[in-house]
Amino acid sequence: MISTYEPASKKIRHYSANACLLPICSLYGAAVTTVEGVGSTKTRVHPVQERLAKCHGSQCGFCTPGMVMSIYTLLRNHPEPTSEQMIAALAGNLCRCTGYRPILDACKTFCKESICCQRKTNEKCCLDQEDDLFDKEEKVGLFSTDEFQPLDPTQELIFPPELMRMAENQPKRTLSFHGERMTWISPVSLDELLDLKASYPKAPLLVGNTSVGPEMKFRGVFHPIVIAPARIPDLNVVKCLDDGLTLGAACSLSVVKDILTNAVVEFPEEKTKVFSAVLQQLRTLAGEQIRNMASLGGNIVSRKSTSDLNPILAASNCMLNLASRGRKRQIPLRDIFADGVGNNTITPEEILVSVHIPYSRKGEYVSAFRQAPRRENALPVTNAGMRVLFEEGTDTIKDLSIFYGGAVSTTVCAKQTCRTLIGRHWNKQMLDEACRLVLKEIALPGSDSGEKVDYKKTLIVSFFYRFFLEVSQSLKTMDPCHYPGIPMEYRSVLQDFKTKMPQSIQIYQAKPSQSPQDPVGRPVMHQSGIKHATGEAVYVDDLPSVDGELFLAVVTSSRAHAKIVSIDTSEALKGPGVFDIITAHDVPATNEFYYSDDPEIIFARNKVICVGQIVCAVVADSDDHAKQAAAKVKIEYEVLEPVILTIEAIQHNSFFEPKRKLEQGNVDRAFETVDNIIEGEIHIGGQEHFYIETQSVLVVPKGEDKEMDVYVSTQHPAIIQEMVAASLGVPANRIMCHVKRVGGAFGGKLLKAALALYRAVRLILSRGDDMLITGGRHPFIGKYKVGFMKDGRIRAVDAKYYINGGCTPDESVLVAEVSLLKMDNAYKIPNLRCRAYACKTNLPSNTAFRGFGFPQSALVTETWITGVADKVGLSPEKIREINMYKENEQTHFKQKLDPQNLIRCWNECMEKSAYYSRKTAVNEFNKQNYWKKKGIAIVPMKFPFGLGTRYLSQAAALVHIYTDGSVLLTHGGIEMGQGIHTKMIQVASRELNIPMSCIHFCETSTTTVPNACASVGSAGTDVNGMAVKDACQTLMKRLQPIINKNPKGTWNDWIKEAFEQSVSLSATGYFRGYNENMDWEKGEGQPFTYFLYGAACSEVEINCLTGDHKNIRTDIVMDIGCSINPAVDIGQIEGAFVQGIGLYTMEELKYSPEGVLYTRGPDQYKIPAVCDIPEQFSVSLLSSSQNPYAIYASKGIGEAGLFLGCSVFFALRDAVTRVRNERGLKKTFALNSPLTAEQIRASCTDDFTEMVIGRWRGGSV
Ligand SMILES: Cc1cc2nc3c(=O)[nH]c(=O)nc-3n(C[C@H](O)[C@H](O)[C@H](O)COP(=O)(O)OP(=O)(O)OC[C@H]3O[C@@H](n4cnc5c(N)ncnc54)[C@H](O)[C@@H]3O)c2cc1C
Ligand code: FES
Repeated sequence: MISTYEPASKKIRHYSANACLLPICSLYGAAVTTVEGVGSTKTRVHPVQERLAKCHGSQCGFCTPGMVMSIYTLLRNHPEPTSEQMIAALAGNLCRCTGYRPILDACKTFCKESICCQRKTNEKCCLDQEDDLFDKEEKVGLFSTDEFQPLDPTQELIFPPELMRMAENQPKRTLSFHGERMTWISPVSLDELLDLKASYPKAPLLVGNTSVGPEMKFRGVFHPIVIAPARIPDLNVVKCLDDGLTLGAACSLSVVKDILTNAVVEFPEEKTKVFSAVLQQLRTLAGEQIRNMASLGGNIVSRKSTSDLNPILAASNCMLNLASRGRKRQIPLRDIFADGVGNNTITPEEILVSVHIPYSRKGEYVSAFRQAPRRENALPVTNAGMRVLFEEGTDTIKDLSIFYGGAVSTTVCAKQTCRTLIGRHWNKQMLDEACRLVLKEIALPGSDSGEKVDYKKTLIVSFFYRFFLEVSQSLKTMDPCHYPGIPMEYRSVLQDFKTKMPQSIQIYQAKPSQSPQDPVGRPVMHQSGIKHATGEAVYVDDLPSVDGELFLAVVTSSRAHAKIVSIDTSEALKGPGVFDIITAHDVPATNEFYYSDDPEIIFARNKVICVGQIVCAVVADSDDHAKQAAAKVKIEYEVLEPVILTIEAIQHNSFFEPKRKLEQGNVDRAFETVDNIIEGEIHIGGQEHFYIETQSVLVVPKGEDKEMDVYVSTQHPAIIQEMVAASLGVPANRIMCHVKRVGGAFGGKLLKAALALYRAVRLILSRGDDMLITGGRHPFIGKYKVGFMKDGRIRAVDAKYYINGGCTPDESVLVAEVSLLKMDNAYKIPNLRCRAYACKTNLPSNTAFRGFGFPQSALVTETWITGVADKVGLSPEKIREINMYKENEQTHFKQKLDPQNLIRCWNECMEKSAYYSRKTAVNEFNKQNYWKKKGIAIVPMKFPFGLGTRYLSQAAALVHIYTDGSVLLTHGGIEMGQGIHTKMIQVASRELNIPMSCIHFCETSTTTVPNACASVGSAGTDVNGMAVKDACQTLMKRLQPIINKNPKGTWNDWIKEAFEQSVSLSATGYFRGYNENMDWEKGEGQPFTYFLYGAACSEVEINCLTGDHKNIRTDIVMDIGCSINPAVDIGQIEGAFVQGIGLYTMEELKYSPEGVLYTRGPDQYKIPAVCDIPEQFSVSLLSSSQNPYAIYASKGIGEAGLFLGCSVFFALRDAVTRVRNERGLKKTFALNSPLTAEQIRASCTDDFTEMVIGRWRGGSV
């Protein structure tokens, strides 16, 4: 939080900002509050920190300080915020773990209006009142508000008086800061600024740094001098003139938003249409942190095609007040786009002083539109600003202005179109002509540029149509006798989707009969929750620097498949602070690791096999020096053929072996007897893990015997130990791997190797490098042929799966196997044949990702289920019910299963979601709305639990009791947000019968638990819990005679006595693993130990004109046995579900034709944000479910919820189907994943899509 004091108004302004973009020099005179300053366990934990932790709003904790600061800043400005303000404050924060629901629950406790709900034990929540579905349940909250400290604004940190005095007393003077390479000059008067600009015409004016900053950080742009004009009064003016408002160019977008919001309230509506349209864009432009920094002038002058302001400001006839030495002038904003490329009329010496935004006039209508990959905090795909002025009292166009953004390299004007339409009436003919003209005039580049050309064109005309509807309706309001307005069923499209504070409910079974001290089954807060929220939790990059520490920066391949001809490091080695450059030749021992036929490689040796492969690494005295030198390493390549990026691998017979097949029944014969056969395929895109903590490692040689401490963010310390030891040629007993906690992993931190030198070395990958170098979830193609009867019974399935494994084997064959084993999802298919191929391509190696093949293969299954439904004319839920496992049966690999809880989950989900009555309501809505449609879908799930082989699920624990009675617990599991340590402490607490507060977990380490298996496959709690229980029971067995002798004694008495009797107070525990096996030759086995079940029902609404959608409601019922910690488990379900929404509806990886990943950061790759979670979100844990195979009858829950995100995919499909049915379009249609706005828009075929395709194919419009 940045706080500044303005002496003239005597006001303090607090605002949140993105630290990574904030230039330190801009903070002169400002106070900075970080999460550590808000509160700490050593002083006082602030209510924001406390509630976030206690409401379970923190899992891995890496995003939590950011969340705290956004909420805290809001509360400093508005101690009783509205829920709308709260939602807006969090729009710019991302969390990959929680699914946001618990974070918002914490937020709600600060909001003025009571929103909800379940916290108040035994009271009805507002959701219930609205929809009395959960009445029969016993409800106990996941947290209690009674424990919360009140928020007392008088206790907050004050603005530092010395800064206040400085601002009051010190005359403002020019500030200059000189760095190693740059000079920062901050003048105080306009004249001085103009002089500086004349002297340094190339120097940028830096205000928010949100445009220049990313260019310098990510695109290598360098400015030796920057001028910071933010303190100049002329650039901060706010003037209300006769014809409009004049706003200083340095006003932040937040300030502009506040001013316009007030103006809209203050002035008559007729005058404020331009203001309202600008506000419409400002609401969703970036997040609050960016809007607090970004300036109005910066947005305009940058002339980015993605500017949301330029189209509407240009269309509204805004004026720019420019100045240069000795010259001032005013030009219309639209002139800076006059030549259509953005080279403009502003000279290099000129600066923008202020912007004049005019009042709207009578008979004038103004609107702005935007469509982005995510509704909030995402740059637009296309946007528009439109204005029409009619001849007085008529619908004859007197003036028309249409500007588009996002379409080409800058804002463009449909000048010819507007000119041609002047004098025309506002009617259907005008609309047709406008669309035709505008498509002709706005020339877009060809689709091979990777741009969404057809989508953009469709938006261009769809936006105009929306403007047409808006204006037509306004004309009717003005003069209902003359103007008919628009049909009732068209009106809803005039309202954009808005993010509302979601309502939520979580149901689990309380254990009232249990001893109050026994924490198992209770919603215990994450062991590190408070430390996450205070910023005290330590991640790798928080470890204090070690004496002589060096930094590593990697140099990666820019070619997908090429021979390395030479590596020239001469320039790089001359860089300041460069210590060394390491290539494959410098690795003392193993550089290639063979876990199968193809190796995993540390440094590319003679050739590269993907873009992003590490070729060498620069070691330097600082991160900056290492990166600067890395950029100077020159690698010469000779391109090799073929370059395989997709499953065109099939043509090159490029696969990782073995290929797998499963078969049951007689598929060919069954196809001969069925009534119907459908064939199809679905493409499922990959997914980036996007753990918020990137891959990180700190290696510290100990100086003796080649010993080395490795602090690493990994799910599998034992393999890191093994690889580091092998690459250095030392025994594993010299390498100590330590993992305190990991800031998110999701499978992405399994098999990534670390490198060690004989000096301490730190490597923290930037987000861009992390995304470039590491693979993610496998892109997948499922091809299917399905035979079924008229009544919907499926008799035969023949399926083939191709997964894109990338350039090395990693886990790809295993993922392919799992995709086959789990392909039946919830259905009994009597005759089934499926094959899976792991394709070897030239992408970075794809790897494990939550769900491990199941989310893809089960999506294929659900797709053909809906295909069958379409064909037989029954609903998808009927087909699901008809084919669902019903009684004790066998899977397609002959493993027994009892589907009772599957059916219970399905039925409960049907009931809790009120599926049929809501389906009727959806039908009703759809009858009454043409351009907006709703869809609803319910999907069942069977999620098999198991790792396939016994040795992979072995686990060990080590428990020490010290003589003061405190317990130190260790096991082999990694804490990555899934709450494993919290659960293990719960287990130890029950077994030792002592409070959790007596038990401490320090770190996972190869020194305490050797050879630990990776924390994967939802198995962490299951297997480590068994080991912890075993160790504790061993200790209790030793203590029992002492306890029996002194039953009234305390724990401390017994421990003291045990020590005096020489009873060992340290024990290991062990779990051999589950007896799992699979014989791929026979296609039979017992690869899983048990099954989790679940069902989810989701409802969505789509905007057919843009493809945008909103998640209205989701109800999940999940069978997870007896939950050890319902808060943690529900958090896992919700977090995974929201990650599933990301996978199936929005996260899109894009590559160049040469295999370069384009989507290398949060600006291009969109994970779900607060705006994406369902407005109503309920999760119920199935009651009375037992599991004899896992600890305390629980079930491992980390992954299963992700697949349920596909209920949103199928609800969207349902909505699209309804559109297509209404329009009489072809019944069968294919939708791929992710089902983005672009695909939805393209599937809702209408006149506008036809116009675009017509043009695209060269036909007439
Ligand atoms: C994460 C993120 C999300 C974003 N999302 C959106 C979005 O959804 N929609 C959208 O429209 N924009 C978006 N932006 C862009 C943002 O709005 C602009 O970067 C911002 O408005 C630029 O203002 P600034 O003060 O930060 O510019 P700076 O980076 O400080 O400067 C930008 C440029 O403008 C010039 N300049 C600045 N002021 C003047 C002046 N007074 N006279 C002459 N030249 C001047 C500078 O010389 C420089 O070249 C986003 C940016 C980020 C980082
Ligand atoms: S808790 Fe939010 S990213 Fe992990």
